[in-house]
Amino acid sequence: MNIIITKDYQELSEKACGIIEKQVNDKPDSVLGLATGGSPLGTYKQLINGCQERSVNYENVSTLNLDEYIGLDKNDPQSYHFFMKKHLFDHINIRSENTYIPNGKAVNLDVECERYEQLIDDIGPPDLQLLGIGQNGHIGFNEPGTSFQTKTHIIDLEESTRQANARFFDSLDMVPKQAITMGIQSILKSEKIVIIASGERKADAIRSLLEDEPDENMPASALRAHKHVTLIADEAAYQKA
Ligand code: GLP
Repeated sequence: MNIIITKDYQELSEKACGIIEKQVNDKPDSVLGLATGGSPLGTYKQLINGCQERSVNYENVSTLNLDEYIGLDKNDPQSYHFFMKKHLFDHINIRSENTYIPNGKAVNLDVECERYEQLIDDIGPPDLQLLGIGQNGHIGFNEPGTSFQTKTHIIDLEESTRQANARFFDSLDMVPKQAITMGIQSILKSEKIVIIASGERKADAIRSLLEDEPDENMPASALRAHKHVTLIADEAAYQKA
């Protein structure tokens, strides 16, 4: 695993942006795997600057997002569809028909999982997958205990994950209890993976990712088996490693 340690979140975001922009400049029809949550917000801000000020071109780029809450409409401000439009897609010259996110309101969610996994194979797999990491080591919404063999599937969210994400909702009650997520195996299909972690609350997860034996109780540890992973962590997230 390549490891980049940065002094703070700003520098982390600039490094992640630099890697993504290089990918897009080198291969203008790249497929990017994208993540939500607080961690990538700074990276997305930098990417918007790059598109608007440095003419980085997303016209032929496609994106596949990791996950979506079950039961939230695409127009719900808490949905990951809405998040991606608000924080990235509405501000860069990507074609909306080239952006893919699981449909958490599908009538048949099992069929939706199969459809999305097929999309990963047909459109992707991503040339570059951006990942955050949960405090409990989850990637996408693959909670501890998820098999490393999983494809896109439905997951029951841990109470700790719902609490961690409650800051984006009006109250904890409003945080959905389930999500559709790319599986661990789906994520590992990507050519390259960049995982970002900022702040002290991620320090235990980063220490475990780097030092413990791979274990399904620590979903991110599956990344140790991948050939091209870059971890970008700020000093606060790296302090226990
Ligand atoms: C959510 C997302 C993950 C994300 C994680 C960490 O649960 N599904 O993709 O990596 O939370 O979130 P944050 O970056 O806000 O700490």
